[in-house]
Amino acid sequence: MPTLILNLSQLVTCAGPARARRGAEQGDAGVRDGVGVAIGDDGRILDVAPDRELRAAHPGAEEVDGGQGVLTPGWVDSHTHAIFGRARYEEQELRAAGVGYLEIARRGGGIHSSVRDLRTRTADDLAALAAARLQRLAAHGTTTVEVKSGYGLSLESELTTLRVIRRLAADLPLRLVPTFLGAHEVPLEYREAPRTRDEYIACVTEEMIPAVAAEGLARFCDVFCEPGVYTVDETRRVLGAARAAGLALKLHADELENGAAAELAAELGATSADHLAAISESGVRALSAAGTVATLLPGTMLFLGRTRQAPARALIEAGVPVALASDFNPGTSPTVNFPLVLTLGISQLRLSAAEAFVAATVNGAAALGLAKTIGQVAPGFEADLALFNVRDHREIPYWYGDHRCVRSWVRGRPAFTALTAS
Ligand code: NIG
Ligand code: FE
Repeated sequence: MPTLILNLSQLVTCAGPARARRGAEQGDAGVRDGVGVAIGDDGRILDVAPDRELRAAHPGAEEVDGGQGVLTPGWVDSHTHAIFGRARYEEQELRAAGVGYLEIARRGGGIHSSVRDLRTRTADDLAALAAARLQRLAAHGTTTVEVKSGYGLSLESELTTLRVIRRLAADLPLRLVPTFLGAHEVPLEYREAPRTRDEYIACVTEEMIPAVAAEGLARFCDVFCEPGVYTVDETRRVLGAARAAGLALKLHADELENGAAAELAAELGATSADHLAAISESGVRALSAAGTVATLLPGTMLFLGRTRQAPARALIEAGVPVALASDFNPGTSPTVNFPLVLTLGISQLRLSAAEAFVAATVNGAAALGLAKTIGQVAPGFEADLALFNVRDHREIPYWYGDHRCVRSWVRGRPAFTALTAS
């Protein structure tokens, strides 16, 4: 029996080609008035048409009252670090007092502090913490979440993290995409004799990547390629091994300082290059030529108190497809509120509302290699949807920091329902 979602004030379809949208295409979110959606029993979109036509075509279908709200494709959050233990609120004040992000890491805080904490926890503990946090992402309309490992930094704890992601993917009404980020930092125990950072990289390439691939635990491999973290040469070694093992590639690229990491992402044919606040003009050209998705994370720069945001306009004008993501993590972006990321996309990155919606849906899907399946409200696409209590789609980024999501669906099944309509 199909399900009909009716009585909408607007539908954001993002309908169009099933691939990353670049240039002028990024500015068309396919917003329609006066239509509803029919979902088939297989969890896919059957039809988008005026309510009257849907009722006539599907007699006896179950009806959901959209309450004159706005329905959108569920947000595709293509960059998070959602598996971690404790929150790191103390670093927020340290940064405000003038201690930089990499300086905190140099003192053994930052990622190292999350690593120390994660290694003491059981898989059950990590799964319970992450499940509660992912449900909060879902409550804001996120339906797909890429989740990285990277707070284990040992064979055993990286595998534990990825197995937790696999378990959550089976248990939660969300679509999760796992990424192996064993090269998130060089663990402290490999920084002093007798161990060396080269030995850690060998451990990542010769032990971790083969084990991850053998168990089918990740779709992507990512590296934090940044001056002071992993060099371009080290990143090339890790991602070369990942590609040989059948993983697709992502990079944390040019986040804080330029290190020609975007150029490396293009050279390696990475699916996405992420952050890019410090990308150079040659990096922009390289991404455009390679067709790599630029995943921008404006919440991170906001939370770190940095004024330089990624050059989103220059990227779009150069023909680079731009995606937006939360970077949800305990150090640099502890937000679960994807609509707030849309707000920052418009107010900080100077995207149009339509460009921001496409960045959060179709281009997020492309950043995960899923543009043929999700990110659009169009016949044949998976019914991953979010309903908001607003009349115009531009109100979703406008009421910044608010909570307007009232329901969501993943594969046509309810994923989130607000207790009371807000
Ligand atoms: O995307 N840059 C590296 N990784 C995360 C931060 C991780 C952390 O501080 O715990 C990021 O910003
Ligand atoms: Fe990140």
